[in-house]
Amino acid sequence: MTYLDEMEHFARQNNIPVIVPATREYLQNLCRTKKPKTILEIGMAIGYSASCMLSVCDANIVELEASLPNIELARKNFDKLGYTNRVNIIVGDCVLELPKLRGQQFDLIFLDGPKGRYLEMLPDILPLLSPDGVFVSDNVLFRGMVRDGAPIPFPRFEHTVEQLREFLNTLEQDPDINTEILHIGDGLAVVTKRKN
Ligand SMILES: C[S@@+](CC[C@H](N)C(=O)[O-])C[C@H]1O[C@@H](n2cnc3c(N)ncnc32)[C@H](O)[C@@H]1O
Repeated sequence: MTYLDEMEHFARQNNIPVIVPATREYLQNLCRTKKPKTILEIGMAIGYSASCMLSVCDANIVELEASLPNIELARKNFDKLGYTNRVNIIVGDCVLELPKLRGQQFDLIFLDGPKGRYLEMLPDILPLLSPDGVFVSDNVLFRGMVRDGAPIPFPRFEHTVEQLREFLNTLEQDPDINTEILHIGDGLAVVTKRKN
């Protein structure tokens, strides 16, 4: 078992949600072909998806994460993998921290933080995407509830589903970007900037 596989196993054992194998494969292929130099990840958990990406390209990554226990585990994992110097962890609420990144540019942005707040973060995320960059959001189909007619099992999911629907509609209606919705894992929205 590789250390990446051990990280995934640890996350599943401890109910820490991390990307599924199909999403890992998609992100790693993207990193191999696009060769990003700068990555922004919103929602790091224990650093599994970040490590998957860092293992196949030579990018540096900026992380936004609020959970202190997750951050402690992620730091240990990055240390073990020799990635510490390539990772900058910003501790705090991503919604509040994102506007502070204004002026920076990222070749790959991976959004995997609070699902009910994707829409709110969008205006702060899009300006951070470099002209040839790719912006990938995870869980946008949210177990089939967003667009595929799956019933919403708990009232507490209603807000998240509504927000994700609005998030996808907003992306698709934006004339400055191309959006593809992929049925990979729990649904990926893949956004690139249109050339004028
Ligand atoms: C799905 S997990 C990320 C998994 C990770 N991308 C991976 O696949 O290895 C979501 C993470 O977002 C973090 N998170 C949730 N709300 C947040 C917020 N408002 N600000 C920053 N981080 C937040 C959680 O603590 C959790 O670690």
